[in-house]
Amino acid sequence: MTQTIAAFRYYDCHPAPADLHAEVIRGLSREPRGIPPKFFYDEAGSRLFDAICATPEYYPARVETGIIRRNLLEIVACVGSGSLLIEPGSGDCRKVRELLAAIRPRAYVPVDISGAWLRQAARRLAEEFPWLDIHAVCADFTAPLDLPCRADGARRVAFFPGSSIGNFDPGQAVGFLSHLAAMVRQGGGLLIGVDLKKDAAVLNAAYNDVQGLTAAFNRNLLVRINRDLAANFEVRRFSHRAFYNEAEGRIEMHLVSETRQRVLIGGRCFDFEPGEGIHTENSYKYTVAQFQELAEQAGFEPVRVWTDADGLFSVHYLEARGNV
Ligand code: AVJ
Repeated sequence: MTQTIAAFRYYDCHPAPADLHAEVIRGLSREPRGIPPKFFYDEAGSRLFDAICATPEYYPARVETGIIRRNLLEIVACVGSGSLLIEPGSGDCRKVRELLAAIRPRAYVPVDISGAWLRQAARRLAEEFPWLDIHAVCADFTAPLDLPCRADGARRVAFFPGSSIGNFDPGQAVGFLSHLAAMVRQGGGLLIGVDLKKDAAVLNAAYNDVQGLTAAFNRNLLVRINRDLAANFEVRRFSHRAFYNEAEGRIEMHLVSETRQRVLIGGRCFDFEPGEGIHTENSYKYTVAQFQELAEQAGFEPVRVWTDADGLFSVHYLEARGNV
């Protein structure tokens, strides 16, 4: 279905919704146990993530915003006006606002799997930016995507902020970046935020805030599973564990059962021994050179990179080579 309201268009690619039940059963049946981090973001989880971004310990969101703000003119020069600005996983379209005002793209293309949220966020954006052409695309951005909207030959630039790339392992990241390279086509661009490797104490603090918001965010996954799958996790008997795995270059988050317990999910039962955990998230960290190497494998050429004075976070601008 395609709906048109002034400069606002909505394209529904009918993505298959993520199957929470199947993925939870599969994830808890294998060894080691794990549940994909994409399931963190129900309404409560999204609110908790916003609260995490406001903690003093969780620097990525804040530092990325600062980097973009400080280098806006250079970023605009790289992206160029008159381009099609595509944001995979646009969510509430919050981060793109400052960019939109400065870049004045030909059109903004938010892509999100959640149609209801996408419509709402894109409509609100359309009100705020009455001059902006918005083509909202409901699709699974992790799969190769042939943009349904007419681009009329405009140069394409993808925006992927927040170090969301860190949730992929490096091999998957190359695959995902290759999809983006194909989507923006030869000469197209990618503006991407990537969290940097740094002192483990700083990383560990960022995922163990003193207010306990990251712990609540992690545990909310079980609250959500209890509600949506009529499961009976004793959430209070699972503790939040997050640490920097130096060898793998990633933060790992786990939920660790403090006691022996049996959990029922839709007629299946899962036994937990004390200390047994569920791996809920990886958040990979890169040096600037490591990320550039990864992006080059995916068909991108590094053009510019901006960091903060403390070297906490990086924002890269890359261009897609032709031979991908
Ligand atoms: C949204 C995936 C970038 O990995 O830092 C924050 C999610 N998890 N605190 C990250 C998260 C715990 C975040 N990403």
